[in-house]
Amino acid sequence: MSGGESKLLPRHVGIIMDGNGRWAKQRGLPRTEGHKAGVAVFERICEYAADLGVPALTFYAFSTENWVRSAEEVAGIMELFRCQLQKAHRRAAENEAKRWRIRYIGDLEPGGPVPADIIDLLRDMERKAMDKDRTVVNIAVNYGGRQEILRAARRLAVLAQSNAIAPAELCEQDLEDGLYTAGQPPLDLIIRPSGEQRLSNFMLWQSAYAELWFSDVLWPDFTEQHFDAALAAFVRRGRRFGATGEDEKG
Ligand code: IPE
Ligand code: IPE
Ligand code: MG
Repeated sequence: MSGGESKLLPRHVGIIMDGNGRWAKQRGLPRTEGHKAGVAVFERICEYAADLGVPALTFYAFSTENWVRSAEEVAGIMELFRCQLQKAHRRAAENEAKRWRIRYIGDLEPGGPVPADIIDLLRDMERKAMDKDRTVVNIAVNYGGRQEILRAARRLAVLAQSNAIAPAELCEQDLEDGLYTAGQPPLDLIIRPSGEQRLSNFMLWQSAYAELWFSDVLWPDFTEQHFDAALAAFVRRGRRFGATGEDEKG
């Protein structure tokens, strides 16, 4: 794939970073080692996609359902977030990490299950990485699509209760305005490695017309070539959005 702006590039790519545990198991390593390897791949793919000029990316890092894992694994993942954020802060201080705008999405309210020091670090990181002209990188932590929609619905209920909005006049845009990704393009492409073919509660609203690309590769083995393959598949898809497809290419 060549770089630069292209009409053929998806406007927003979602990536479900799955398969870390199986990757570690294959090597006789603890699961946390798989997550560590996954973080390195996240950095590479983020860099690559931003260089290609993809306007928005969302990486699914930890779901609202992932808390059911062993305390040891959850603590290991939280520690990785912590280390990763501290590293990113050091880079930002050296003025290297301002190549994109970072947003953390998910239930990150103080008092919730995500440790408070991590919330402070990530909110601070959002303030440091604010280049609005570049790629937006959303990192989904304690994220669930249903939780996000419920949160947006609550916001509308509050507005309706205070008579700021009439229920009969509510439109899709009103709900969308309450999503974490408000103002961003809808997902054009979702990439899921690891062989699973499901969304696992990832961006249920934003994925309404997303093209889905699945691969058996485990996330720690995912490379730029896999990303290219997903983009190439995306270009070949005939998107119809409910129409007949008579104008469709190929
Ligand atoms: C994805 O890898 C990372 C998280 C969900 C936090 P997994 O840990 O789910 O890896 P597998 O699916 O067990 O291989
Ligand atoms: C989805 O992976 C969540 C993330 C990648 C963060 P899971 O491994 O949690 O999904 P399921 O349980 O296989 O559906
Ligand atoms: Mg998994």
